[in-house]
Order: sequence, then C-alpha cells, then structure tokens
Amino acid sequence: ELLAGVAGTRGLLCLLSDRIDCEVLDAAGPGLKVISTLSVGFDHLALDEIKKRGIRVGYTPDVLTDATAELSVALLLSACRRLPEAAEQVKSGGWTTWKPLWMCGYGLSDSTVGIIGLGRIGQAVARRLKPFGVGKFLYTGSGPKPESAAEFGAEFVPLTRLAEESDFVVVTCALTPATQGMCNKDFFGRMKKTSVFVNTSRGAVVNQEDLYEALAHGKIAAAGLDVTTPEPLPTDHPLLSLKNCVILPHIGSATYATRSTMAVVAANNLLAGLRGEPMPHELKL
Ligand code: NDP
Ligand code: DGY
Repeated sequence: ELLAGVAGTRGLLCLLSDRIDCEVLDAAGPGLKVISTLSVGFDHLALDEIKKRGIRVGYTPDVLTDATAELSVALLLSACRRLPEAAEQVKSGGWTTWKPLWMCGYGLSDSTVGIIGLGRIGQAVARRLKPFGVGKFLYTGSGPKPESAAEFGAEFVPLTRLAEESDFVVVTCALTPATQGMCNKDFFGRMKKTSVFVNTSRGAVVNQEDLYEALAHGKIAAAGLDVTTPEPLPTDHPLLSLKNCVILPHIGSATYATRSTMAVVAANNLLAGLRGEPMPHELKL
C-alpha cells in the first residue's frame, strides 16, 4: 500500500512501523522533498539514502518525553513488584491468605539504577526515580555528559560496569548500529541475580534469546519490555511464557494528550517542509 500510495508525492507522513528504505524512496520518485515521522525514533528511516537524495526529515522529540518516562517507571515498578503476576493471583484464586514471603519483589530504596542512554527520556526517567530513594545512578553512552548527569549525581561508567553494579537497568538509548544487540548474553551474565531489566527504547537493542535464557534460568530477577522484535510479538513467543517478564505493546508515548501533540508537531513539520520553511523539529542529517 505504501509503495503504491507514495508514488509521485512531495511529502510523506509516516509511522515508526513504516520502513522507509530505498524501495519506498524509489517508488516515491524524485519529487519527494520531506518525510515527517510521528515518532522521536528514526531507526526506521534509511537516513544515508534520504540525505543523499536531499530529502528533509521531521520528527517529534521532547513532546513525548514525559509520557515515555512515566511509562518506563510504571513498567519498572510492574516488573520489580510483580504487579501483573500478583493481580493474576487474585483472579485465579491463588490468593489464599497473607503470607510473609509470598509475591515479594525488589524495591528502589537505596538501589543503584543504571541508565543506558542518558538522553531526554533517560534523564526524565532518572528525575522520576530519584524521589523513590535511589542510592546511586550510573549511566552509559557515547561519552560523559557532566551537565545532564549533575542533577542526579550520575556516574558515567562502561556498559560492563553498569551491568555488574545496577539493581535496575533502564534502556532509553536510540537504536543504532552500535546499540543493536547490545544487551546480550555477556551483558545479562554480568547482571546480578536480583536485578531487574527494563527496555523502553527499541526491541533490537536486546538479544531476546539471551534475555529469555537469563530470565528462565534465574540469572536476572525480572524484565519489563515496552518494545520487542518483532512488533507485535507473536503470542506464542517464549518470553510470554515467563512470569518474570512483563511485556507491553509499545505504549510509551500513549497518552491522549501526547499523541495529539505528536500529531500536530508531525503535521507542522510536514507543512513547513513542503513550504521550504524551517521545521518545528527537523532532524539534522
Ligand atoms: P535522545 O536522542 O535524547 O537520547 C538517546 C540517547 O541514546 C542519547 O543519550 C545517546 O547518548 C544514547 N546513545 C547513543 N548511542 C549509545 C550507545 N552506544 N550506548 C548507550 N547510549 C547511547 O532520544 P530520546 O531520549 O528522546 O529517545 C530515545 C529513544 O527512545 C528513541 O530513539 C526511541 O527509540 C525510544 N522511544 C521509545 C518510546 C516508546 O514508546 N517506548 C517513546 C519514545 C522514544 P549520547 O548522547 O551519549 O550518544
Ligand atoms: C517514538 O516516538 O520513537 C516511540 O517509539 C513512539 O512514540
């Protein structure tokens, strides 16, 4: 449908689920001047090729940061305090009486939280987690960011150390060739048995087979994923058989207000691009 519909267009409004590759660009033809994506992530766009063809790109940073950070915290708490599993026990009759060690999990007080990618969303997650009594923040990325890290007293560390020392790992980086498959067997092998892993970035940052092994064999305590490979995740996927894995259908930015604002930004990006004017949010290529 996309290949047929895009032919001869000057502007394209796309979703993160639309892979804009050479085939789509060729189908559009030389008249395509602007691509506006309804997302902050742009890993679905063949940027080198888009740049080569002189096409401008608009995206939606900032306006979804709060909603996505909020969902990241909700997912973290759901995973570490076993909320879906516990709620299921109420429905299934597994709740017989109050028992001292039943449905225990892990809390944030005095914990060490490791953030992979201390960007807009990573910082917003840290800002929300700090009042829970987190003892220490670690972060990793392409280099130290002392100004962003100062608010949380966060320490820049290599990925290996972040894995080894964090009680909670939160992935909020962009998907790039460098981050693809970054959370793999070695990474999960370094994490503590009592640690919780949360990913709200892109599914491909995680090697899901390795994550399954780590969760199934008690190498880590639990995981919360808002993003998977593929999306949707097949309903018979092994990860869905695990009690200690909470999986959501990519709803990080899904509040009515945020999606509405994203739509306005994306439309204005598109219109500005078509008029040859500065876009509200243009990706620097
Ligand atoms: P930013 O560009 O502000 O942050 C991205 C971060 O990724 C940067 O801090 C960058 O660190 C980091 N990063 C890049 N390379 C690496 C690396 N090799 N190792 C570790 N970190 C790295 O983007 P946002 O915070 O706005 O969004 C982040 C991502 O979240 C988006 O790209 C998107 O994929 C995802 N997202 C998911 C949503 C959902 O619904 N689940 C909603 C919104 C976004 P540095 O600056 O040091 O390079
Ligand atoms: C994004 O914007 O990249 C998210 O994945 C959806 O809001």
